[in-house]
Amino acid sequence: MPCFISLCLYFLLVLKPVRTITEDVEVLVILPKNNSYLFSYPRVAPAIDYAQQRLKKDGGEYSGLQFKIQYENSDCGNDALFTLVDKSCEKKPDLILGPACEYAAAAVVRLASHWNIPVISAGALATGFSHKNTEYSHLTRIAPSYLKMAETFTAMFQYFTWKSALLVYEDDKEERNCFFTLEGVYHLLGDYNIVTYAIHSKEDRLDTDDILQNIYDTEVVIMCAGADIIREIMLAAHRRRLTSGNYIFFNIELFNSSSYGNGSWKRGDKYDNEARQAYASLNTVTLLRTVKPEFENFSMEVQKSIQKAGVHDCKDCGSINMFVEGFHDALLLYAIALHEAMKNGHSKKDGAEITARMWNRTFEGIAGQVSMDGNGDRNGDFSLMVMTNVEAGTYEVRPTKITPDVVANYFGVNGSFQVLPAFNTDRFTLQGRRKTHTEIPDKSCGLGVSALTGIIVGALLGTAMLMAFYFFRKNYRITIERRTQREECDIGKHRQLREDSIRSNFSAA
Ligand SMILES: *[C@@H]1O[C@H](CO)[C@@H](O)[C@H](O)[C@H]1NC(C)=O
Ligand SMILES: *[C@@H]1O[C@H](CO)[C@@H](O)[C@H](O)[C@H]1NC(C)=O
Ligand SMILES: *[C@@H]1O[C@H](CO)[C@@H](O)[C@H](O)[C@H]1NC(C)=O
Ligand SMILES: *[C@@H]1O[C@H](CO)[C@@H](O)[C@H](O)[C@H]1NC(C)=O
Ligand SMILES: *[C@@H]1O[C@H](CO)[C@@H](O)[C@H](O)[C@H]1NC(C)=O
Ligand SMILES: *[C@@H]1O[C@H](CO)[C@@H](O)[C@H](O)[C@H]1NC(C)=O
Repeated sequence: MPCFISLCLYFLLVLKPVRTITEDVEVLVILPKNNSYLFSYPRVAPAIDYAQQRLKKDGGEYSGLQFKIQYENSDCGNDALFTLVDKSCEKKPDLILGPACEYAAAAVVRLASHWNIPVISAGALATGFSHKNTEYSHLTRIAPSYLKMAETFTAMFQYFTWKSALLVYEDDKEERNCFFTLEGVYHLLGDYNIVTYAIHSKEDRLDTDDILQNIYDTEVVIMCAGADIIREIMLAAHRRRLTSGNYIFFNIELFNSSSYGNGSWKRGDKYDNEARQAYASLNTVTLLRTVKPEFENFSMEVQKSIQKAGVHDCKDCGSINMFVEGFHDALLLYAIALHEAMKNGHSKKDGAEITARMWNRTFEGIAGQVSMDGNGDRNGDFSLMVMTNVEAGTYEVRPTKITPDVVANYFGVNGSFQVLPAFNTDRFTLQGRRKTHTEIPDKSCGLGVSALTGIIVGALLGTAMLMAFYFFRKNYRITIERRTQREECDIGKHRQLREDSIRSNFSAA
């Protein structure tokens, strides 16, 4: 017996200092091959390599993890699912990275959850993926979802006390990125008056008149569409004098930083000047970018690999976007969680256990701190950009800053909306709102300029009270109408989403 105890003690002493855990991990990366996607695997692979090298080289806790990484083309569609099934015939992977396209991800995540395989994606940003208690239980989202982005709008609506919005989105009926983007906003702005407007870019000619018809009852216009459509709408709004502060215009442009500044309004046509003026009242919500010294090295190494691999079919492949960064951090997060799970006696096949350990934690990513919420979704930080320098037509540039055009930031981790020195409240205050309301009684009483002031005051007061009553009734009615309209729309949308998630993306078109 004492011998047994000393044997145990021996093992405890011997085993305790051995902190590295050795394990082979099969990783299946399912992403499109086509470099027109920001998250194509030729773009993402160098970042995953970098993470792998870093984990190995550190000589620390994670250096015993051997990642065997296999890249497969999802083609942003059904191929993603077929790949997973085909590859799993021989051997199921231990970890899946991707898919990023919504419809590809839906099928893969459902099957992976059923097979108890963790999935980490820097995409799959749609609101539906938040339902982790059932079909998407093994999904961890390493990049902020559209719902997280929408928090920026709830924060602004509270801050500026706006009440209504028109959501304008381009719907290609295929990947539907803008549909999903504004779906997030729609979900979170449930307590406000919301009207939605879809532009079916493939079928119809852009009818800006029709869009602007919907603007009149709203205060805020939130748009997600291609740069050309945004320009058309802004031009039309400018011609109708809707850009003089009586409406607030937003454009959501999360990933493509090359479309800011000149890229957004400049086309070299005769409308450039007008467009530049119109864009002076356009605000852009985008990702908050942070960098730290290490990031420079990462960025350079990724560029080197891209060049070495001879990826020539895209001009901005060397630039680090949210997806590239996300898939790098995905491998780190998995290593941390796997290591922790194995230390606690679980194996790499305990997908649920490893997934749980990736959620509700904060770790140091390649560009800064990454905070995962209790639902396995990353908390997001977003920036509000404006174009202040109308003369030069560029977004205001403040040197020494990486995000030079920013007037405010939203931090998802603590829900704070922080205005920066360049911020100007007037820009976000609705101008001439009350004036348009009182203009109507003014006009009808306009003849009484020379009459006795008492009569005017009395008449104005009476009218004002009548108008107030009238407007109260009217607003009330509008609110009710909107609400029922919205509820119907809600039902419609849910039905649509459910159908969508069953159908393949192409049959929905
Ligand atoms: C990649 O996608 C773009 C846009 O969808 C398409 O025009 C191009 O032909 C595709 N390239 C390949 C190699 O499939
Ligand atoms: C990014 O924006 C620029 C300018 O608007 C556009 O030419 C380019 O195609 C966009 N890239 C992607 C990947 O959307
Ligand atoms: C924008 O256009 C101005 C004037 O044409 C030019 O000087 C500037 O370099 C451009 N900026 C970018 C980022 O392209
Ligand atoms: C990045 O850092 C590593 C080691 O820290 C170094 O070997 C490498 O040369 C650096 N790369 C660049 C492009 O500076
Ligand atoms: C997240 O972790 C904190 C403590 O670190 C805990 O209080 C909280 O309940 C956890 N949340 C969830 C959803 O697990
Ligand atoms: C919220 O978090 C951000 C980033 O971590 C920090 O800069 C900011 O001061 C925080 N704000 C509040 C009110 O705690």
